[in-house]
Amino acid sequence: MGGTTRWNSRAYDSSFGYVSAHGAPLVELLDPGPGERIVDLGCGTGVLTAEIAARDARVLGIDGAPSMIEAAMSHYPGIDFVVADGYDFTVAEPYDAVFSNAALHWMARDPDRVISRVHAALRPGGRFVAEMGGAGNCAALIAAMHTAWREYGLPEPELPWYFPTPAEYAARLEAAGFTVRLLEYFDRPTPLDECPGGAADWVRMFAGTLLEGVAAEAVDPLLLRLNELAAPALRRESGWMADYVRLRFAAVRR
Ligand SMILES: C[S@@+](CC[C@H](N)C(=O)[O-])C[C@H]1O[C@@H](n2cnc3c(N)ncnc32)[C@H](O)[C@@H]1O
Repeated sequence: MGGTTRWNSRAYDSSFGYVSAHGAPLVELLDPGPGERIVDLGCGTGVLTAEIAARDARVLGIDGAPSMIEAAMSHYPGIDFVVADGYDFTVAEPYDAVFSNAALHWMARDPDRVISRVHAALRPGGRFVAEMGGAGNCAALIAAMHTAWREYGLPEPELPWYFPTPAEYAARLEAAGFTVRLLEYFDRPTPLDECPGGAADWVRMFAGTLLEGVAAEAVDPLLLRLNELAAPALRRESGWMADYVRLRFAAVRR
């Protein structure tokens, strides 16, 4: 994977299956046809890749994290998976579609390069169907992180994500040779059912690298403070909610 985040595929699958659960309607938008050749970019443990394969499409799951690909291969031995980086991947023959759920915002370093790799992987008329974090994603969570880090005298956390506005991402797609056919930008408050430790658990899972520069004895108190700061916005009677904002699009290669 580009960047430095390391993924724990086991914890991801057991505790954070909701990422895939919420991605399910995206497969409807992709609407894979029998025999279509489809790439699932940032496929993780392959749950949605398998859903696409179940529609009789021929799908290739790509992920930058070897642990994710290992898990995907062992769960779905009949599907092709490969470790490759979204910034650099190439395919031998153009595909009919590239699909991506909850992965593009991790490819923050150079979004245009990722889009150009997707473009190169598609035949003319091929579609790019994806969902990612949009501008304002996790805003309350991130604000609480900034405050907690400041209170502990830590440098501002360097967040590893790219959460674009719809206009910004549409402009990138258009400039790269795509026609945007659908673009949605919406709030999706998401129960962190499997995150009893709330924002602290979420940070450990999704932003663990930010804790690497923190003295070991400071991590627990820092995350405790994070939870105090985040609770008014994100803690409900029923449990913790993440303040997700999503960008979902379907674009066609010109
Ligand atoms: C939140 S997971 C989503 C996984 C899957 N699409 C799903 O819906 O469950 C994000 C995935 O993007 C992958 N990823 C992040 N940066 C990447 C990169 N530069 N190239 C390829 N994969 C990357 C991660 O390894 C991780 O598996």
